[in-house]
Amino acid sequence: MKIRKSIHKDYLKNISKIVCVLWLVISVISCKNHNEEYHKVTDKIEAESKNYHGTSISSDKFLEELNLIEITEGEHTFLIPERKSQIQSYACTECHTDDLDKIKGKDVKKGHWNISLNHANENTMNCLTCHNGDDMDNLKSLTGNKIDFDYSYNLCNQCHTKQFEDWKGGAHGKKIASWAPPRASMTCVNCHNPHSPSYEKRWPVGYNSQKRQERK
Ligand code: HEC
Ligand code: HEC
Ligand code: HEC
Ligand code: HEC
Repeated sequence: MKIRKSIHKDYLKNISKIVCVLWLVISVISCKNHNEEYHKVTDKIEAESKNYHGTSISSDKFLEELNLIEITEGEHTFLIPERKSQIQSYACTECHTDDLDKIKGKDVKKGHWNISLNHANENTMNCLTCHNGDDMDNLKSLTGNKIDFDYSYNLCNQCHTKQFEDWKGGAHGKKIASWAPPRASMTCVNCHNPHSPSYEKRWPVGYNSQKRQERK
């Protein structure tokens, strides 16, 4: 009984010696050149990022030609495209010098024959939900506040809060140019026609193998 116990002890001692030596050898081999080689990838990242002070890559040169305005919404500051120069019939007051009531009538030709509203329903929306009869060159909020055409996302965010929150963070919509700063993003009306904002549903293009055989 006693003998067996001491053999067992010796055996354990030897094993631990071997392990110790092995560990020493391995660590000397694997970390022999500390300046260039690292034990773990995370060590390397940590060491090499000490002298890293942000990226020098920038989107500036792709954005030079574009007419952008800077906005700050909550904790996000970014650029969006200016709109007013893109709107064909702006300034509206080139025609809208009189009250809408006066210029509308049987004898008046329809001014905006190409615009029909396909957005929400009649109870929720008509032209004057967003346009201001007394100040045609600006949009208006539901409570009657002025909204500049360049900042029309403020119109949309009254009802589409979720998409607005996503858009601010960059999860809804699309960036312009590249991922590198400064950030420039498309605004709602770059993608959605405010008068008919839904995307048309389209079927995926089908591949008709029968037709192909017939053609052969
Ligand atoms: C070339 C002239 C012209 C310009 C520019 C113009 N309008 Fe008009 N607009 C008219 C005329 C004419 C009417 C009245 C006839 C009608 O009801 O379509 C009208 C009517 C409207 C109405 C009432 C439509 C209805 O059915 O109640 C709205 C809203 C409107 N315009 C918005 C605008 C806005 C916003 C702009 C600028 C982005 C603009 N218009 C620029 C000529 C113009
Ligand atoms: C949901 C809000 C909303 C409603 C409702 C609305 N508009 Fe607009 N409308 C806008 C916005 C925003 C723009 C500017 C879009 C842009 O920046 O291109 C605009 C642009 C226009 C323009 C200028 C279009 C161009 O390209 O020249 C006219 C004209 C106009 N609206 C007339 C109308 C008329 C008429 C109605 C009712 C039939 C109407 N709008 C209903 C939001 C609205
Ligand atoms: C007064 C409230 C209101 C405003 C302002 C408004 N919307 Fe809407 N919008 C609605 C409602 C209501 C619907 C219909 C929702 C539905 O059918 O599920 C709708 C539908 C839409 C849809 C289609 C949703 C779908 O499921 O197909 C889009 C896209 C959209 N709006 C974008 C915009 C944009 C962009 C603006 C700003 C130019 C805007 N909306 C301004 C109330 C509003
Ligand atoms: C780069 C283009 C782009 C921009 C910018 C953009 N959207 Fe959209 N939006 C889309 C697409 C694509 C869809 C999905 C359409 C579909 O599924 O049929 C969509 C869907 C929606 C819908 C329908 C509900 C949903 O989530 O499917 C609403 C409402 C909407 N957008 C509102 C907005 C508003 C408000 C803004 C600005 C704050 C905005 N969008 C900016 C492209 C855009």
